[in-house]
Amino acid sequence: MALQIFRTKQVVNDSEFETGLKRCLSAWDLAFLGIGAIIGTGIFVLTGIAAATQSGPAVVLSFIIAGFACAFAALAYAELAAAVGGCGSAYGYSYAAFGELIAWIIGWDLLLEYGISVAAVANGWSGYFCNALSAIGIPLPEMLTKAPKLGGLINLPASAIILILMGLLILGVKQSAKANNAMVFVKLITIAIFISIAVFNVNPENWHPFMPFGWFETLPNGKTIGVLAGSSIVFFAYVGFDAVSTAAEEAQNPQRDLPIGIVTSLLFCTVIYIVVSGLLTGVVPYTELNVSSPVAHALKLIGFNWASALISTGVIAGLTTVMLVLYYGLTRIIFAMSRDGLLSEFFSEVNPTTHTPVRVIVLCGVLMAIVAGFMPLGDLAELVNIGTLAAFVLVCFGVIFMRITQPDLHRPFRSPFSPLFPILGMISCSALMAFLPALTWLRFVVWLTIGIIIYFSYSFHNSKLAKSN
Ligand code: ALA
Repeated sequence: MALQIFRTKQVVNDSEFETGLKRCLSAWDLAFLGIGAIIGTGIFVLTGIAAATQSGPAVVLSFIIAGFACAFAALAYAELAAAVGGCGSAYGYSYAAFGELIAWIIGWDLLLEYGISVAAVANGWSGYFCNALSAIGIPLPEMLTKAPKLGGLINLPASAIILILMGLLILGVKQSAKANNAMVFVKLITIAIFISIAVFNVNPENWHPFMPFGWFETLPNGKTIGVLAGSSIVFFAYVGFDAVSTAAEEAQNPQRDLPIGIVTSLLFCTVIYIVVSGLLTGVVPYTELNVSSPVAHALKLIGFNWASALISTGVIAGLTTVMLVLYYGLTRIIFAMSRDGLLSEFFSEVNPTTHTPVRVIVLCGVLMAIVAGFMPLGDLAELVNIGTLAAFVLVCFGVIFMRITQPDLHRPFRSPFSPLFPILGMISCSALMAFLPALTWLRFVVWLTIGIIIYFSYSFHNSKLAKSN
């Protein structure tokens, strides 16, 4: 048993075997995929909330701190994505580095990260969408826009958008990438409009006091405040760059293009976040930003109503791309886990016409649509973060570990200054986890416990490794 749990999988590089998925994504497609997944609820919604309740104008520092942690992790991802490959991302790398049990735990963790993220972003999307409908005079009945816990019946737009994306992903990955590129373009224009207006309307007084909540403090009610607590929340804004690595089996030249896609998209988004968060807290007092659409709200407050409406429309497109890429990543991770026998083989069949794993796309779509429709998921952003950070810690460790255990592995991209950078990645991501509230930790442990039960009752007996034994 111990042998199977710790036996690693031999690295078979992507470019050397065919999977049934179609290799059609260029380096640009991958970078756009990353930007599509990264810029979303984090910058458009959470920046305002973090500024008003945790960091103040120093939210820009929160972004820089979280950005450093992600940069170390991104370099580690780039190395493993190019050397190990496979559409399972951190799950696949853990399989190669640490063996089946750790791989399962990380895979299970990634399901939480991606699945809950999509449902959470769908809720944010629904908020903007309903606002836009109201603004043009055709508001939806309130019962159809809220989860039962918030006094409604169902959050219909949140469920509907997930089902629409489900259709798009079934159609094929190139079509999805095209739609994604178009929407990423709209999102970038939206940000450019905000920056070009905000830059001429900054009132430096709004940046004082700069750090009203200090560095870190836990309040008696368990809530955490301060710049570091803000970092562990705005970290959500960076979630998604790892999704690029799930496209390994559909990339034209994965060994060269994956590192380019991962590093370019993260760098680009970090710069955007620093600029946007700095300007947002410069144009209005941070105390005004605790609303569901802070960027649009700030423009309205300084008298740019037309830009506020335009920004809302762009945000709707922006959040759509985030859901699309994370949804795509989720299906590919399940696909990889199923191919290894850890989940039922039922999920790994690729449809011969569309070249996409249709069953898994439909199953995830329906489940996430139900969750998004019936559960208010705002408070689960922290859960997404803790799951993602745990995966980042293991990926950084995986780089160090594999350099020792598999020194001769061909590495087209090498994380610089190893083992220093991966160690810094592990320390910074663990620290961000530590700044999250105790309740989030508890939820995370419950989710992992369920995963371990499933592993020993199903996956352990059915994995390809078990059968080959
Ligand atoms: N990074 C993504 C967002 O901010 C998940 O919405």
